[in-house]
Order: sequence, then structure tokens, then C-alpha cells
Amino acid sequence: METRILPTSEPAQLNQAAGEAVRLLAAGEVVALPTETVYGLAADALNATAVAKIFEAKERPTFDPLIVHLPHKKDLDTVADVPEAIAPVVRKLAERFWPGPLTLLLPKKPCVPDIVTAGLPTVAVRASANQVFNRVARNLDRPLAAPSANRFGSISPTSAAAVKAELDGRIPLILDDGGSHHGLESTIIKVEPSSPKPRLIIVRPGPITQDDLKEFGVVVLLKNLKQEDRPEAPGLLASHYAPRTPLRLLDSPDDFIPEPGKSYALLSYRGDADDGYADLTEWKGVHVLSPGKGKLIEAGVRLFYALRELDKVGADEIIAEPVPTHGIGLAIMDRLKRAATK
Ligand code: TXA
Ligand code: MG
Repeated sequence: METRILPTSEPAQLNQAAGEAVRLLAAGEVVALPTETVYGLAADALNATAVAKIFEAKERPTFDPLIVHLPHKKDLDTVADVPEAIAPVVRKLAERFWPGPLTLLLPKKPCVPDIVTAGLPTVAVRASANQVFNRVARNLDRPLAAPSANRFGSISPTSAAAVKAELDGRIPLILDDGGSHHGLESTIIKVEPSSPKPRLIIVRPGPITQDDLKEFGVVVLLKNLKQEDRPEAPGLLASHYAPRTPLRLLDSPDDFIPEPGKSYALLSYRGDADDGYADLTEWKGVHVLSPGKGKLIEAGVRLFYALRELDKVGADEIIAEPVPTHGIGLAIMDRLKRAATK
């Protein structure tokens, strides 16, 4: 199959590209679409046969459920059965963060096929803020199931070219909307009723931070919960988002002693020699996430791009510097830890 990339920057291009995407999706095909987080591989969420093509193209195991994207935030009730006990906080969260990079785990409606949720009673839902995505979703007028548009276990794509590198020949169409705005996947939370304030469990950290959420309830990180208290998150495997080159995440420059005969590439946070990493060895390649003072938002936008580029330099190992864990730094460290897990 030939994989076409259609531009969307001019109004006429957007009309043509969105029209083509809608035609394919309505026919039960998959299409890669931009979102504000990363590029997604979309199919009609209510068409199980179409959704199966997502798993096939990505070689994704069917125990790993997908996120459903609503055309409009008011469509939440079409796919989710929001329990009364959490309805007020869910409404407030949707009001504040949708369209945007917050995914909610909620009890599913029967119309959502089991293949979407991997047989779980819950569905992951969000509304994307990307204009191109929304043009397609609204013209189709169906919720879209869309995981990140990479092969399973690989790095999420933040450009049309990265989608092509992952899925060329496996999907018919990619809509190109340039580089992804956030560059990291959405924050996933589970809302639990609790008094006096609801509990918001962060299942996957992302662009909506703990700080952003705290006015809506008591925010807890999944990894800080005892095993038996954790909601099911089958797809959140320890090893994920991995480049092909092995990656090692350091705590400090002292942790790294180069082995003779091995070549290394550096993923640097600020590119500042004073941080102690730049001169550790003769690096085969270096990518800096946020040159200068180091800004975590910029680092997040560039993370997956930098990993993809470092994967190409032919080093034996990628060495990653840690980033501060406040704000979106938590999501960056989460992805780096997973990339480092074999
Ligand atoms: O920003 C994003 O979230 C991007 C864009 C395309 O929207 N999507 C994305 O999808 O990152 P994906 O499939 O790569 O990651 C979704 C994660 C998976 O780890 C999956 O296991 C988890 O969400 N998930 C989906 N449904 C779930 C459910 N019902 N319960 C627990 N985890 C769920
Ligand atoms: Mg993914």
C-alpha cells in the first residue's frame, strides 16, 4: 500500500486533505492525524473492524486499549457512563481542559466495542485541541479511536515524517500539520469519589501537570499507590517509547564510565558543560533538549524528535541526562525511564 502525506497549511489543502481522511475513515480505513500531543493513528471508534486495522498496522497487542477522541466535548455521554458520584468533577475537568491533553478513564457505554477497551469496563476519553484533527472528527461526526501513530513499543511520532518512518506502506494516508505542539502524550487520570475532595490518580503523566489538577481534587501518582490499590492499566508497560539503540538514564555524571571501544550518543537537557555531562567522552552525537537555561516545556516538545535523531547516529548506547521532575519534567522522566527499560 502506498502511504500518502497530504499538507493542510492552506485552506484549500485542508479541505482536500480532511475530505480524503473522512472518506477513508467512513469506509472503515485508518488515517494518521495530527493531535496537539503526538500524531495518532485514527479509526472510527464504533467500528470494530476498522479499529482492528489500527492494531494490525502498529503490531500492537490487543490487550492494550485505545484512547477515544470525541468530536466535541459534549459528546462524552455517547461513549462513557459517568457515575453520578464523580459527575460534577468530571464536568469541571472537561470544562477546563477540553479540548486538550487530558484523558479520563471512565466506565464505558455498550456501544464502544471491546477491541477498543481491550475488554475492560472502562474507556479512555479525551477531546483533541488540534484544528486539523477536529475538522476530520467533526465532519465524520464519530468518535475516533487513536493511539500514537508508531509501531508498538517505539517512539511516538511528533511529525508526519516520523509517522511515515514508523508506518510507511501500512496505512493509506497521513495528514501533515507540522510539528506536534506538546510533543508528549496526554495526561491520563482516573477519578475516584472521595470525601471531602475526589481523588485524581495520574495513570500517565503528561502536559496537564499535578499542579494544574490540584484545584480539582487530591492528586495521586499511580506509581505511589500500593499495587492492590492501582486501577488496571494494562498498556502501561514498563518498557515503552524506546529507540532501537539501548538507552541509559543517568542520575548524575559520576554514574557514567565509558567502556573502551564503545560509542555513545548524548541526550542533554541544557547542553551546558557545567552540568558535567558534555565532556564525559567523545560523543558520537549530541542532542540538546532545551539549550540555554533549560525550559521543560521546550524539552518536552523536542524529546521524541531528539530520540529519533540520536537513534540514527549509530552509537552503541544513548546516554540520557535527567531533567528536573517538576511540571512536565515528570512526564519527560517517565518516558525516559520507560525508554531505558529493556
Ligand atoms: O496524547 C495522547 O494520548 C495520544 C494522542 C494520539 O491522543 N494517544 C496515545 O495513545 O498516547 P496510546 O494508545 O499510545 O496510549 C494510550 C494509553 C495506553 O498506555 C493504554 O494502555 C492506556 O492509554 N489506556 C487506554 N484505555 C485504557 C483503559 N480503559 N484503562 C487503562 N488504560 C487505558
Ligand atoms: Mg503510544
